[in-house]
Amino acid sequence: MFKTDLLAGKRILITGGATGLGKSMAQRFLELGAALYLCGRRENLLEEAAAEMRKATGGTVKTFSVDVRDAPRVETMIETFWQDGPLDVLVNNAAGNFIARTEELSLGAFEAVIGIVMMGTIHATMSCGRRWLKQGHQATVLNISTTYADTGSGYVVPSAMAKAGVLAMTRSLAVEWGPRGIRFNAIAPGPVPTEGAFSRLMPAKEMEEMAKKLNPLGRFGTHEELANLAAFLVSDYSGYINGECVVMDGGEQLQGAGEFSHLGRMLTEEQWQAMRPKKK
Ligand code: HXC
Ligand code: NAP
Repeated sequence: MFKTDLLAGKRILITGGATGLGKSMAQRFLELGAALYLCGRRENLLEEAAAEMRKATGGTVKTFSVDVRDAPRVETMIETFWQDGPLDVLVNNAAGNFIARTEELSLGAFEAVIGIVMMGTIHATMSCGRRWLKQGHQATVLNISTTYADTGSGYVVPSAMAKAGVLAMTRSLAVEWGPRGIRFNAIAPGPVPTEGAFSRLMPAKEMEEMAKKLNPLGRFGTHEELANLAAFLVSDYSGYINGECVVMDGGEQLQGAGEFSHLGRMLTEEQWQAMRPKKK
């Protein structure tokens, strides 16, 4: 789909880059010529993922183990990575989430998810952003959001609140820092199978089947689709896109919003026929 040097010369940090969608984006960016910087909490996973990627592509992959809630440690990571030269792209992908009835959540549960998703994004963005602004370095930030950042959603309230905050930051800094050469965009994926998300959010097979059934395209998104969209958004070819959130969900969100969209699954052939104009 792309020229193989699309991202040549770009240094890209992906938070949560050793698993799931982060790992798939990393692999794709490497194939397209970027040097990759990955972080997450689990050092063994980071090392395994980096070794696998280096073997497959021969590219540069560096790792740093960090909890993105820990601002001083994030600052140390950015300082360490910066020794190779300025990063060009930050992908805020690390997240925490689970399904729960909101009235049963402890304060610690809110803090865990909001701390990872919103504060983690703030920590990484500020550490990179201050350096970019000081050095006059052109850069781009891609935030991995969710479709419910805009609409809200029951049963994932801390995540919805945190992702909404990240989306507000995406749009706000696109305007504030755009004039100084820093673009901000987001992707809102619908369901894309990963161990991390599906083990927590689609724990039963019936939930998966229901999610597919409710999707206008009748399937989940793929890692390849997400990685290619991300590659475009962090590349210079998307240079005039700033402050945008691209929804990649097969139309799922619109399906839920349309007043009559469920009729296709509800009405029988006889009921459709009965609504047609009677022959005169
Ligand atoms: C209620 C829960 C809970 C649950 C944890 N807690 N799991 N409360 N229901 N299922 C509470 C704990 O009791 C604790 O509260 C607090 O949250 C912190 O829990 P810890 O286990 O100590 O936290 P930590 O080890 O930091 O783990 C963070 C985590 C965990 C968010 C809880 O799930 C995690 O590490 N997730 C990372 C990966 C992930 O979630 N990936 C999915 C992203 S998918 P107390 O009161 O005891 O402190 C996504 C969008 C998907 O974001 C959209 C699909 C369409
Ligand atoms: P995932 O594999 O669980 O990815 C989450 C990553 O974040 C992991 O690598 C995890 O690594 C890292 N992480 C979590 N807490 C962290 C912390 N405190 N500090 C540093 N890193 C941390 O799930 P995924 O599905 O690929 O999710 C990736 C992104 O896509 C998330 O932003 C998610 O909200 C978004 N998303 C996913 C879907 C989907 O259907 N898959 C849909 C919509 C949006 P460690 O545990 O080792 O730290």
